[in-house]
Amino acid sequence: MKIGIVGGTGGMGEGLALRWCINHEVVVGSREAQRAIDAAAAYSKIVSDAYGARMKGGITGNENIAMAKECELLVLSIPYEYIDDMCGKLASAVKNDCIVVSPIVPMKKGNDGFEYTPMQGNAASAAEMVASKMPPRSRIVSALHTISEVKLKHIDESLDCDALLCGDDLNAVKVVSTLVGEISGLRPIYLGPLSISYQAEIMTPLLLNAAKQNKIKHPGLKIV
Ligand SMILES: NC(=O)c1ccc[n+]([C@@H]2O[C@H](COP(=O)([O-])OP(=O)(O)OC[C@H]3O[C@@H](n4cnc5c(N)ncnc54)[C@H](OP(=O)(O)O)[C@@H]3O)[C@@H](O)[C@H]2O)c1
Repeated sequence: MKIGIVGGTGGMGEGLALRWCINHEVVVGSREAQRAIDAAAAYSKIVSDAYGARMKGGITGNENIAMAKECELLVLSIPYEYIDDMCGKLASAVKNDCIVVSPIVPMKKGNDGFEYTPMQGNAASAAEMVASKMPPRSRIVSALHTISEVKLKHIDESLDCDALLCGDDLNAVKVVSTLVGEISGLRPIYLGPLSISYQAEIMTPLLLNAAKQNKIKHPGLKIV
């Protein structure tokens, strides 16, 4: 599968690229083509040393909009604040049947700890914002909010945690669940339609508060 990562030069994008390239063609996206190409070269060096002959896919880089035109699945690995602008630009570029994955967590650090920002202004969840900017909403899948980029980047280690998914189209959810399940130690858990994505997104500030107060490194979530 050809997977594009918008904002793939960030930590989350790097972690996903390093994991998925073993089986897939991953394109790292950036607002600047050269930044994406440089990041892709650096990631490729890491995986070629680590995976060697097991590698069936690869990593390249390109400007966000150009790469989005070619991909079957896009991950929006950008901060919440830029959804409006970036998704507005991507909406007319992506293929009709492209699945769009949002791992975006709207969060800020307040006096009492990390907070889920849509609660304060009665605003939409990240996934709902993406859906409003990149219709049809059936292609949007919300996933991976609680997965630590640090753990993803340790490619020789199993994650041993769950990844919550929300989406309206069960076929699109299935595709993303399969991709999530390809990452060692990650179990995809379907939560329900996109309208309840806030329940998955809010888990990240919860985990970070628990981690800070109890000195837990790179926390994850597992439903037992
Ligand atoms: N990091 C984690 O462990 C983690 C875990 C779960 C979920 N998430 C979510 O995943 C997303 C990415 O996380 P991250 O830590 O990788 O974020 P990040 O490093 O802050 O940003 C990722 C990329 O976004 C791009 N970007 C910055 N400003 C932009 C703008 N104005 N318009 C368009 N793109 C812009 C940048 O790429 P270019 O400058 O190259 O364009 C940057 O490398 C976030 O929504 C976060 O909530 C992160």
